Amino acid sequence: MRIDIISIFPEYFAPLDVSLMGKARDRGTLDISLHQLREWAHDVHRTVDDTPYGGGPGMVMKPEPWGEAIDTVIASREGAPRLVVPTPSGRPFTQELAVELADEPWLVFACGRYEGIDARVMLEYGSRLRVDEVSIGDYVLAGGEAAVLVMVEAIGRLLPGVLGNARSVADDSFAPGAMRNLLEGPVFTKPPEWRGHEVPEILLSGHHGKIARWRRDEALRRTARNRPELVATLEEAGLDKRDREVLAEGDGGGGGAG
Ligand code: ADE
Repeated sequence: MRIDIISIFPEYFAPLDVSLMGKARDRGTLDISLHQLREWAHDVHRTVDDTPYGGGPGMVMKPEPWGEAIDTVIASREGAPRLVVPTPSGRPFTQELAVELADEPWLVFACGRYEGIDARVMLEYGSRLRVDEVSIGDYVLAGGEAAVLVMVEAIGRLLPGVLGNARSVADDSFAPGAMRNLLEGPVFTKPPEWRGHEVPEILLSGHHGKIARWRRDEALRRTARNRPELVATLEEAGLDKRDREVLAEGDGGGGGAG
C-alpha cells in the first residue's frame, strides 16, 4: 500500500520508522512518503494560514498550498488515491473504516492545523477523488498529525503479512464477525504467581472448552462494565444462555456491579 502524508510537521511521523510499521516499510508492504506543505507556499514566510472569513478565533489553512500539494502528489503516480482529512468534525474512525481503507492501494492524508483547512479544498477534490473527513474521537487535538499516526497504525497492521499471527486480527474487539463489539478480556503469562496475585486456575487447566467459556465470560463482563452501550449492539443470535446469564449479573445487583 502506498501512503502519502502532507503536513507542516513531517518530522511528527518519526514513529512510523519503528516497530511493526517500520518493519512493514522496510519490507515494502507499506510505502509511506512524507511531504512538507510549506514547499507549496511561495511567499518569503511560506505562509499556509490566514484569518477566517466571517470572523472568529484562530486561523484557517489557505487553499492554494493544499491544492498544489495534493495535485503534485496525485500526479506522482497512476490511479486515483482516496483522500483522508483528519478533523474532529469528521465521520468516526472505526475498525470497519480501517478495514475498508486497508483494502485501498493508495491513501493520501492531509493534516490540518489551526481551525482546519479551507472547505473548498475538500469540495474541489470531492469531485475527483473519494474524500473522507475523519475523526478519531470526541476530543480536539492540536492538529491532524496524531490522528493520522493512529489511523496509519490501525490500517497498517491489517495489511497482509504485517502481523505475525493472522488470528490476532480476527480476534480484535471490533473485528467484523462473531466477536464484533465484544471487548477482549484480561490476559496473563508466566509466572503463575506474581506479588501474591495468581493466574486464574482455569487457564492452567489445559481444558480448552472451559478456557474458551471463561474467556467469553470475562469478555462479556468487561464489555458490560467498560462499554455498557455496546451490550445492546451484540448480535442476539450470537448470544447463548450462559452469555445472557453473565450479562444479567450486573443487573439488579444494587447498582454495585464490580
Ligand atoms: N484534529 C483535531 N482533533 C482531531 C480528532 N479528534 N480527530 C481527527 N483529527 C483531529
